[in-house]
Amino acid sequence: MECVHDQNCSIHIGEGAVSLADDIPLRQEDRNCIILCEENAADLILPILGDRCPNLRKQPLYYLNAREQDKQVSSLIPLWKAWETDGIDRRTLVINIGGGVLCDMGGFAASVFKRGIPFVNIPTTLLSMADASVGGKTAVNLDETKNVIGTFSRPEAVLIDPVFLETLPEKEFLSGMAELIKMQWIANPDFSIDRTEECFSSRAMLSDLLLSAIEQKARITAMDFKEGNIRKILNFGHTFGHAFEALALKRKQKITHGEAIAHGMTCELYLSWLMTGFDRGKFETCSAWIRKHYGIFQFSRHEIPDLIAYMKTDKKSIEGKVYPILLPAFGQCRFTQAVPESLLEKTLSAYPFF
Ligand SMILES: NC(=O)c1ccc[n+]([C@@H]2O[C@H](COP(=O)([O-])OP(=O)(O)OC[C@H]3O[C@@H](n4cnc5c(N)ncnc54)[C@H](O)[C@@H]3O)[C@@H](O)[C@H]2O)c1
Repeated sequence: MECVHDQNCSIHIGEGAVSLADDIPLRQEDRNCIILCEENAADLILPILGDRCPNLRKQPLYYLNAREQDKQVSSLIPLWKAWETDGIDRRTLVINIGGGVLCDMGGFAASVFKRGIPFVNIPTTLLSMADASVGGKTAVNLDETKNVIGTFSRPEAVLIDPVFLETLPEKEFLSGMAELIKMQWIANPDFSIDRTEECFSSRAMLSDLLLSAIEQKARITAMDFKEGNIRKILNFGHTFGHAFEALALKRKQKITHGEAIAHGMTCELYLSWLMTGFDRGKFETCSAWIRKHYGIFQFSRHEIPDLIAYMKTDKKSIEGKVYPILLPAFGQCRFTQAVPESLLEKTLSAYPFF
């Protein structure tokens, strides 16, 4: 098992990591512990938790509907009321177990309840293992606008155990792979498209890819926890990706976070070619690769103004100016270059023809 330190948060990665949670109720002499589990996958997740952590079976269990459409402040009010009724206070540690939506919602719920109670994340999807459970960002959406209400609050620990991946549908696996590939493209100058395909098709390389993504994220967040500068590069693909997710939410259409980010990466690489000289041939190969594995996000010309409006409400936008992350090359990122609206429009108009 590997351990990565993200300031005061220890991230344990590998088979058996979830068993470390069994000690939590024993270690906490003056603290209580509760479990917050996502409702949707509870029948898959809880038997594994109960089997690996018998001491947790006796702890109070709360459920949360944690689909993307539930990721709103209003969904947390009944949970906070229940916690209040049950006497949950700052001596209580919350164990969040579920996918990225649950980690974001549970982390946010804990980080503002009584001005902040401690929590531990046990991510159960590849995407939440690779990204959402680590780095200390918690959030809910505001209607369709993604993650605009949230806190910077690190969990005490993150326990990443591949045992949960055994039940993960292929679509969700692909979603997590998009974030893992994103991390290589932004942080690894030697990463080629051949290597991308190799990593993608070989599950044997998954643990290395996961460890590398977590180490990189911990390294970057240590430099800039509150995303004042360098941490912004982790949002490569997210300016367009979040706009696609917002449009999908509005249409009540299902799209995974990773799919949206993959389409966003294609658009931001196109902009990188236009604005920073990212190699044209490489852009075409990357875009064909994304299309092969993630297809295309369908939208009409009439929806382009809506997509641009979503980008302007993105957290990274300043005074209506949009700052997608641009890559002059793999392993190099620019995050301070505002992109004129005409180029956003050009990119979205060209996207179906990439
Ligand atoms: N805070 C951050 O830094 C950060 C980073 C990246 C993404 N995110 C957020 O993460 C969310 C996406 O997370 P996600 O992709 O995990 O989606 P998700 O939480 O919706 O989970 C995807 C699906 O997998 C199911 N599931 C969970 N565990 C399972 C298991 N072990 N077996 C089978 N099915 C299981 C869930 O019920 C759900 O249907 C987005 O809301 C995104 O904004 C946050």
